[in-house]
Amino acid sequence: MNRELRITGDGSHTMYVSDMDESYHSKHGALQESVHIFIRKGFQTIEKSPVHILELGLGTGLNVMLTLAESEKSGSDVFYHSVEKYPLNAAEFGKLNYEAMIAGLPAGSLIRMHEAPWGIDFNLSDHFRMFKEHSDFRSMDPEGRFDLVYFDAFAPDKQPELWTREIFSKLFALMEPGAILVSYSSKGEVRRVLNSCGFEVRKIPGPPGKREMIQAIRR
Ligand SMILES: C[S@@+](CC[C@H](N)C(=O)[O-])C[C@H]1O[C@@H](n2cnc3c(N)ncnc32)[C@H](O)[C@@H]1O
Repeated sequence: MNRELRITGDGSHTMYVSDMDESYHSKHGALQESVHIFIRKGFQTIEKSPVHILELGLGTGLNVMLTLAESEKSGSDVFYHSVEKYPLNAAEFGKLNYEAMIAGLPAGSLIRMHEAPWGIDFNLSDHFRMFKEHSDFRSMDPEGRFDLVYFDAFAPDKQPELWTREIFSKLFALMEPGAILVSYSSKGEVRRVLNSCGFEVRKIPGPPGKREMIQAIRR
């Protein structure tokens, strides 16, 4: 995958994949987009501790860092399982400016998280335990049941094979009743597929530059 670092509208970094002509985040602001979708409409809506989170697409680690900072603030315990097929290399993650932009992170968290081995539990704080799974979404095999899913694959028109009934049904089975899946996409086809898997799908206001996003409840 040919990737280059780019700066987005709020000053935070993203990665751009030239072969796909696709960015990891919104050009309007990676940080503000991720805060809105995954923290405000995801993490902050879960009223329990510990919270078991499954992320599809670890990528830069921005969602991990935001969730870590939030759990430090709220004191809630987090178990965070993230799946990634194409990890960033050290030259890439070493340049990301998230630690300077996110308040309340334990020092060195971003590098420690990226350098931690795959396939083994590790702690990022007293509240935050993590497991990185180096695999394809389609063959992922996480243990346990989840309260929250960060569905952060590349866009449905770039990777239609990841927005399928098969994958969403698998996620449904891995989620607790009442658990929430959030995604930046609000495409009609994605909503229909989620619906057909048994999710109650809500179209809610998206981050700046994006009118709507999806919040799907596992009934
Ligand atoms: C939109 S990016 C978002 C990543 C991350 N959440 C972030 O904030 O940087 C999508 C991520 O999904 C990963 N990915 C793409 N196809 C995948 C697959 N089949 N299995 C696992 N990960 C995949 C990409 O490598 C990329 O890291």
